[in-house]
Amino acid sequence: MPAKKFGHARTIDVPPALPAEEAARIAYEADQGLTSHHFTPGEHPIVRIEHLNKSFDDTLVLKDVNLNVWPGEVVVVLGPSGSGKSTMLRCINLLETPSAGHILIEDDEITNKSAAEVNKLRRDVGMVFQQFNLFPHLTAKENVMIGQTKVLKKDKAEAEAEAMKQLDAVGLADRADFKPAQLSGGQQQRVAIARAVAMHPNVLLFDEPTSALDPELVRGVLDVMRDLAENSGMTMIVVTHEMGFARDVADRVVFMEEGVVVEQGLPEKVFDHPENPRTAEFLGSIK
Ligand SMILES: Nc1ncnc2c1ncn2[C@@H]1O[C@H](COP(=O)(O)OP(=O)(O)OP(=O)(O)O)[C@@H](O)[C@H]1O
Ligand SMILES: [Mg+2]
Repeated sequence: MPAKKFGHARTIDVPPALPAEEAARIAYEADQGLTSHHFTPGEHPIVRIEHLNKSFDDTLVLKDVNLNVWPGEVVVVLGPSGSGKSTMLRCINLLETPSAGHILIEDDEITNKSAAEVNKLRRDVGMVFQQFNLFPHLTAKENVMIGQTKVLKKDKAEAEAEAMKQLDAVGLADRADFKPAQLSGGQQQRVAIARAVAMHPNVLLFDEPTSALDPELVRGVLDVMRDLAENSGMTMIVVTHEMGFARDVADRVVFMEEGVVVEQGLPEKVFDHPENPRTAEFLGSIK
């Protein structure tokens, strides 16, 4: 078994990643009844997380996380502050380097990749951040174009057409030439979503996309996300405290605490009949 460096003081042993067929079979068995995803015969998870551990210095913040996400599935991750939700998302697109364990996208292990391969991965895994992260000096349209031209090497006309299509989809075609400072927070976040979708990623990660917004702007962003979930077939992993969204839109809800996946299942099951007392307590505290 490979021993990987763990923090400064310890190492942690994890088994090698499972062979794809075996992993898919085990995941299929395990996930029956936990998700409203419609499985197709022979389907493999699009994201596979096996024995993921992450430490910062000597603090272990993800502890043997195992999770499969299926193509087109919408997974909502809930949990108290500091439970490791962002860290897990950031490991999936390698903004953080896992301390041990495996993450596979379409059965391709993404850990221990070269810089060039990591860039390819960043194309395949999109992320929408709490703070939008738009380029302030570029217009909405230019923000949606830049990844397409720089990373996907699309020509300008093609990137512009795609940008206008995606801005239209989030209701902002008429704001295409506005800069971020001229847009509301909700509009900026919708531009950020359009930018991520324009890259046509395999998986789109959302880290509390509405938490920085004034309450009256939350709805518009959630509507855009709901439309994506229901009509685009996009695979989405969403960290959010929006329980209504989770209940209505998620195929599966995952509850994390202290770096551990404590409970997961169908939203109605986890919300109405949580098995774990900590899940019940957390959900009770935010209702
Ligand atoms: N770069 C870092 N260096 C050191 N510790 C970190 C770093 N990033 C996160 N942590 C720690 O890891 C733990 C998990 O943090 P994380 O941001 O993943 O939690 P979270 O569930 O997203 O919380 P929140 O709901 O507040 O966003 C926390 O204890 C945090 O302090
Ligand atoms: Mg977070």
